[in-house]
Amino acid sequence: MEDLAPRPGDLEPIETASRDEIAALQLERMKWSLRHAYDNSPFYRARFEAAGVHPDDLTTLADLAKFPFTTKTDLRDTYPFGMFAVPREKLCRIHASSGTTGKPTVVGYTAKDIDTWADLVARSIRASGGRRGDIVHVAYGYGLFTGGLGAHYGAERLGCTVVPISGGMTERQVTLMADFKPRIIMVTPSYMLSILDEFRRQGIDPRESSLAVGIFGAEPWTNAMRQEIETAFDMHAVDIYGLSEVMGPGVANECVESKDGLHIWEDHFYPEIINPETGEVLPDGEIGELVFTTLTKEGLPIIRYRTRDLTRLLPGTARSMRRMEKITGRSDDMIILRGVNVFPTQIEEQILKCRALAPHFQIELSREGRMDMMTVHVECLEGPAERCSGAGRELAHHIKSVVGVSTRISICDPGTLARSEGKAKRVIDNRPRG
Ligand code: DLL
Repeated sequence: MEDLAPRPGDLEPIETASRDEIAALQLERMKWSLRHAYDNSPFYRARFEAAGVHPDDLTTLADLAKFPFTTKTDLRDTYPFGMFAVPREKLCRIHASSGTTGKPTVVGYTAKDIDTWADLVARSIRASGGRRGDIVHVAYGYGLFTGGLGAHYGAERLGCTVVPISGGMTERQVTLMADFKPRIIMVTPSYMLSILDEFRRQGIDPRESSLAVGIFGAEPWTNAMRQEIETAFDMHAVDIYGLSEVMGPGVANECVESKDGLHIWEDHFYPEIINPETGEVLPDGEIGELVFTTLTKEGLPIIRYRTRDLTRLLPGTARSMRRMEKITGRSDDMIILRGVNVFPTQIEEQILKCRALAPHFQIELSREGRMDMMTVHVECLEGPAERCSGAGRELAHHIKSVVGVSTRISICDPGTLARSEGKAKRVIDNRPRG
């Protein structure tokens, strides 16, 4: 793999600024953001008044804890345009979540917001080892989802040549990669695995591909998966994080030279970690729910947004801005099986330890009598599946000893589980409701 450490002069001054400089900028911007939300968003004015707080109550960064949280429900309740802090005509773009569990959440951007977003995704691609002149294959979905267009504008901003292929038509993805020779791919890690299968199906050695860096996000993935993808493609695999309510991709990104968690672009987003039960702010280093306050966003300023993502804050390394550890999962995706908390990422880690198994899996929950059961459906690398019962026992053993739960393992033939073209659906809950 190429050595991709940044060269002197590659970084923006703020990326190497001192903590004091970063904190001073954050405080100034946080005051602006609270004031902007209060003055221009009736939602926030009412919310602050109900909580008995005023933007002037913030004199230090820690004072933010006095302000109320914002949740996804608030966005749903004000659907579609009720949270914006600028007149609708000032918005130049709308994105929305898919809304599989209710009304979609709608977010809006002014021209300046889009400009900042492009800058931050450009910064993220650069941190990942991308540079001006690279060909960037964008296989995140285009449309209301922020992945495709977010990646696209950032790659253009960095001065790259963008291939806006979006998700799907996997055969064509591989053909175009062979023909155009991109250096960078931006895609969900689960769809990258589908692309890997397709390379092999077409008899093309993925290690011979032109790809030097993959920028993977939009769903949780593990360091074991990083290893798997890096080895298969002989490329760097770097993590990008973001969410539409806060902006989209590019809220935080790993640096290719350290790959030790994601640097949060703290000049635009202020992170907190809270205890999800009590809402209390936790010190850096402790695991809890990630909360973000936007510092510069005009269209949809968001104050203390509860992401439901679980992680912890760590000090800066390759950059002075703080890192968040790779996300274990969302609190919504946490399975509680007979009293034990289980995340799909923990199952992924154990599968990748078993050499006879492929990284394609799905978790099924069912109820038998009064007992919840978990079945892990996973493909073997080489069929037929009946010959792989040893791998099934090995996996059940790893899950029992590391995660602490007994599971059923169902080994499937290669290519039989549904493939992801975007965010993978890892859990199927067949338990009766109520
Ligand atoms: O997924 C934005 C994005 C697009 C990020 C492309 C990265 C790359 P939403 O659809 O609003 O936005 O979903 C946001 O996805 O709260 C996390 O639960 C999850 N997520 C996003 N990035 C990561 C990541 C986009 N790197 C939700 N690791 C977030 C783990 C992630 N989970």
